[in-house]
Amino acid sequence: MASNSISVQAAAAVATVPQPISSPLTKAAIFLVVTINPGDENRAAVLSLCADLAALLRAVGFRALEGSLSCIMGFGSDAWDRLFGSPRPAELHPFREIRSGPRHAVSTPGDLIFHIRAKRMDLCFELALQIMARLEGAVTAADEVHGFRYFDERDLLGFVDGTENPTGNAAADAVFIGDEDPAFAGGSYVIVQKYLHNLDAWNNIPTEAQEKIIGRTKVSDIELDDSVKPTSAHNALTTIEENGREIKILRDNMPFGRAGQGEFGTYFIGYSRSPRTIEQMLDNMFIGRPPGNYDRILDFSTAVTGCLFFTPTASFLDGLSPDQPAPAAASSEKPQVAAASVQVETLAPAAPSKDGSLGIGSLKGENPHE
Ligand code: HEM
Repeated sequence: MASNSISVQAAAAVATVPQPISSPLTKAAIFLVVTINPGDENRAAVLSLCADLAALLRAVGFRALEGSLSCIMGFGSDAWDRLFGSPRPAELHPFREIRSGPRHAVSTPGDLIFHIRAKRMDLCFELALQIMARLEGAVTAADEVHGFRYFDERDLLGFVDGTENPTGNAAADAVFIGDEDPAFAGGSYVIVQKYLHNLDAWNNIPTEAQEKIIGRTKVSDIELDDSVKPTSAHNALTTIEENGREIKILRDNMPFGRAGQGEFGTYFIGYSRSPRTIEQMLDNMFIGRPPGNYDRILDFSTAVTGCLFFTPTASFLDGLSPDQPAPAAASSEKPQVAAASVQVETLAPAAPSKDGSLGIGSLKGENPHE
């Protein structure tokens, strides 16, 4: 049996405070994806940052409390094996690429993601700077996107984006892992894709045609009636039902772009308690439901990145230490944690704390690995 770098007790003890995934949407965000450079010292540098992320966040966020700075950190499949080994989140795997005709959902490198959000870009930028200063030499940036909120929550295609997001308990239920993977309860999966739009082509088609592609009216953001909404509409293909029940995800898409370069994009970010839900949506969009009945957004938009990450609880991050033993070997063993020992009642999203921190300072010093 491979050596367990996360002990059974530790795994159970850490399922306490989730990361602030279901915090309200913000005006600004930075999506920072990096790969970890080879070498034990680089692994240690990453582990050390994990443990100190909450303190960094407090330090930056406290300078402008009204800015509601937050940060969610996630780990790619290979990075998980290298940093922690076994047990591993049951559904963590590399992003599955999809090819269908001219449409291609690419899979691109990414070991870590930092999803940094605030009401002000200066706060996001400062935190990204501090994170990269701590990781200097240990990681290589794979992608960095600075997103902004565009008028009434619109994307650059001109449509309001985010309307059908679940809120409150429904959001928590959609994103946080529960009994299905007790060792990782309170964690979540996140899929990101950076899309570039051909805005000239998009703006050349009539508004009515655009509305049929999205499935909602453009100005008033009202869902089209089923009698006029095509089955290929974006909001039809991304509606997933299982046993008569709709399975929701939580999105925090952001527009980005460079006017001078003619670059116009949407950074798609979707959180879900199982990556299968988002993968099914992607199949429907790229391949079609039924095959061929694909999402026409993709005639105007190209995915240039694609990654899948697991976001553990904030308590898990807080409990890590840089001298954590390296995993002996990557293993696909199931976690050995009794469901009864896990505090699943803590699945409700952490209320955003007034000091803008992850609110996990009290766990400092309770290193479950000691
Ligand atoms: C080019 C990239 C994308 C753009 C511009 C875009 C835009 C939109 C817009 C305007 C809506 C309607 C308003 C709303 O409910 O938010 C929407 C809905 C939605 N989108 Fe996207 N989206 C993109 C990519 C994706 C991807 C890749 C997925 C999942 C794999 C996705 C999943 C959803 C879901 C689940 C809904 C809500 C459907 C409903 O319940 O009505 N979107 N999107």
